[in-house]
Amino acid sequence: MATEMHPGTQHEFATTRPPDAVQRYSTGERLTHWAVALAYVVLFLSGLALFHPFFYWISLWFGTPTFMRILHPFIGVALAILFFAYAARLWRENLFSPADRQWLRRMFAYMNGREEARVEGKYNAGQKAMYWSMVAMVVGLLVTGIFIWRPYIAPSIPLLGRRIASVIHAIFAFIMFVGIGIHIYAAVWTRGSMRAMTQGWVTRRWARYHHPGWYDRVARGRETVR
Ligand code: HEM
Repeated sequence: MATEMHPGTQHEFATTRPPDAVQRYSTGERLTHWAVALAYVVLFLSGLALFHPFFYWISLWFGTPTFMRILHPFIGVALAILFFAYAARLWRENLFSPADRQWLRRMFAYMNGREEARVEGKYNAGQKAMYWSMVAMVVGLLVTGIFIWRPYIAPSIPLLGRRIASVIHAIFAFIMFVGIGIHIYAAVWTRGSMRAMTQGWVTRRWARYHHPGWYDRVARGRETVR
């Protein structure tokens, strides 16, 4: 079994689960997260094809453009249900604490490795900000999407309302695209994070280095993965 030298960068890396590994996500949480991620990819691709004729060719991956247009809102509703089922388990751990202000002020120094942060929670302030912006974007996309959902809801919404909803839907989709890009970048950049979401566990070193407050609570047995 290899061990981890410096969590957060590279070097030696635990490839098999050490006996003292720390559980970060349950199987249910991981399955729900990846179902949300899959739904997001489908929505992103079909949304792009619906947004501009330049991306029309993507619709052929779905069989026919008509089928893709029908599918897009249903997958959107599925994503919202799955996302809120997942997010509902994590909201408490994403509440901001006074210590998070310091993290947000010194964010770039931490990210460049010039300073070290003592993170008290399961998530750092950047992850918490991303969590709440995801919640806002999913609500925004769901509400505006329902307004423009043909043939069910759209006909009962005045034309101006539908136009405004379409523009806001596209703006939210763009912000979500940038946000998810940052989320994926951070997940890949922070060595060991992806394994937390694929296999469920992290090494003690990882937990102590990235989330010492959370690690202390887990080690004292005050917090468990449900
Ligand atoms: C498609 C590629 C994606 C990858 C590679 C990815 C990766 C990850 C990883 C590794 C974590 C664990 C971070 C940690 O525990 O420190 C995580 C957490 C999370 N992911 Fe993703 N994710 C993806 C897509 C998404 C999407 C589409 C959403 C929502 C729309 C999402 C929402 C979340 C949330 C809410 C968390 C928990 C973080 C928190 O509560 O602050 N992810 N993701």
